[in-house]
Amino acid sequence: MTEDFEEILIDSQQIRNRVAELGSQISKDYAGRELVLVGVLKGGFVFLADLMREITIPVDMDLIAVSSYGASTKSSGVVRILKDIDVNITGKHVLIVEDLVDTGLTLKYLKDLFRTRGPESVKICTAFDKPSRRKVDIRIEYEGIIVPDKFIVGYGLDYAGKYRNLPDIRTLKPGIYAVSACKDGEWPEKGCMDV
Ligand code: IMP
Ligand code: MG
Repeated sequence: MTEDFEEILIDSQQIRNRVAELGSQISKDYAGRELVLVGVLKGGFVFLADLMREITIPVDMDLIAVSSYGASTKSSGVVRILKDIDVNITGKHVLIVEDLVDTGLTLKYLKDLFRTRGPESVKICTAFDKPSRRKVDIRIEYEGIIVPDKFIVGYGLDYAGKYRNLPDIRTLKPGIYAVSACKDGEWPEKGCMDV
């Protein structure tokens, strides 16, 4: 597998340090409040698992699984919910925990969805952020590490289902990362690129 990578962009120690900072900030900001962390599957579970262990106040957690549609419908921001949360978030403070914000369409959809369920607040925490790719204006209250406009893998992020288990963030060699745009209705998980 090592021959698949171009370079390590962010090492595991850098990630650990930033996650610890975010955890301590969240613990201060939400002290005395009912906090529900909602991890976005699949990628967000690695970050969620690390982040929640850096939070020193009581928290509840749940997971949501989403999938965006292929290229042409993607711009509409329509997201398919594959698994919804079970926790009742009415009157609670919701913090959505995501691996990476790219266009921002997924998180805008999720934020609007959770807001319809009567929570006290809905905020966003992301491990990585690619602000140069943003298509919608969305506020990220807790931003981990800013990354360049490159396709990255590791720490929950995949390419065609692989590399989520890497402890750091890496770029792939050009030959490995085949750039073929997703056809309408085809999902990036199937191996095409969401553009
Ligand atoms: P968006 O913000 O709605 O465009 O979607 C962001 C999601 O797309 C992330 O949570 C990832 O699952 C996926 N994604 C975007 N860029 C990358 C990347 O560079 N590597 C792996 N997954 C990515
Ligand atoms: Mg994701």
